[in-house]
Amino acid sequence: MNQEVLLEVTKEHLETGLRGVPVGYCVTSSVHPEKGLFYADHPISEVADWAPARVIYLLYYGKEATKEELAEFKKSLHKRSACSEKTLNYITKLPREGHPMALFSAAILILGMEELTGDYREDCLNLIAKLPQLTAAVINYHAGWGETPPSRSELGYMENFSQMVRVPNRSENLTRVFRIFNILHYDHGGGNLSTFVGKAVASGLEDLYGSIAAAMNALAGPRHGRANQECLHFVEKMLSDVGPEATEKQVEEAIRGKLSRKELVYGFGHAVLRVEDPRATVQYRLAEQLYPDHPLVKMAFLIRRAGTKVLKENPKVACPYPNVDAISGSLLTAAGFPYPEYYTVLFGLSRAVGIAIQIVYERCEARGCKGTPIVRPKYLYKHRQ
Ligand code: MLT
Repeated sequence: MNQEVLLEVTKEHLETGLRGVPVGYCVTSSVHPEKGLFYADHPISEVADWAPARVIYLLYYGKEATKEELAEFKKSLHKRSACSEKTLNYITKLPREGHPMALFSAAILILGMEELTGDYREDCLNLIAKLPQLTAAVINYHAGWGETPPSRSELGYMENFSQMVRVPNRSENLTRVFRIFNILHYDHGGGNLSTFVGKAVASGLEDLYGSIAAAMNALAGPRHGRANQECLHFVEKMLSDVGPEATEKQVEEAIRGKLSRKELVYGFGHAVLRVEDPRATVQYRLAEQLYPDHPLVKMAFLIRRAGTKVLKENPKVACPYPNVDAISGSLLTAAGFPYPEYYTVLFGLSRAVGIAIQIVYERCEARGCKGTPIVRPKYLYKHRQ
């Protein structure tokens, strides 16, 4: 056994959400505090414009596909891509009340009841292939947008999703924005909450669908995936408070006001990153290119500068820079998808890919293919006073 000491665990580490405590290996991606996210060895800014299937291949195999390999992989996803009629029908029998993440998670469980093979690799590829239609069905049903059209995965992974989700008055660039959003959110190292939860549940040998459903419930929290929805509300509120003609100085004052009232400033900071999240940088660039005059986009840019300036003044703030959520909602709204309650579902459509692949590694490849043992960390007993 390799005895290299990675960290001396002290009492300071307790009740800190396992921050910085190494627990295993991640074979798909890594997050460097200053350089940001890498999928295998590729910086996220490089792969953001690739076809989704090419990026999924990279995450699944840990290497770039040749032309032939990619064609085969696309064929395999295509073959698997349609959900059964039964699965799609069951979704429309579920309640529509509450947040759509509950429906999304239930839909993944139903998919598992219908399609489980019990082989993590097969189930991983099946789930990835079927997710665009499953997600479109969840959104269409929850939003009351009508029946979900048949899957046409030959169009491309996110092109297919886009043609199935029946967004009213769709805009020209919506598919492109969906596609980049999808690629940016596939994976974020091994320790983000939803990924950690998914792998922990799978460590008890729960099947892939049940593990991913659990992971999606973790993603649904406002401190994790649902922060993108909250962040859009923050930008909207700022816009209505200071108005569309506000200067950076006025936004700065408004942020100071919020901080003095102990209100949250959304879209800033990260547990690992110590620079602007490169996934945010990619989206700022796209927003600047496509929608420079959209009021929400303009406000998101003002908040980017003013927020960083104000937060940098406080030495206790470890990361005063925008994160992935800072601009994603404004960009989606500008692109003709002004439905914030579905933003976390879009995050889930994407993140389930990385989590499923990481589960395959932990169940089928780790520790000489024995798999990692059931997660069972130690808690110290403490007497309540
Ligand atoms: C994510 O993409 O999961 C978030 O940035 C949170 C994290 O990495 O912990």
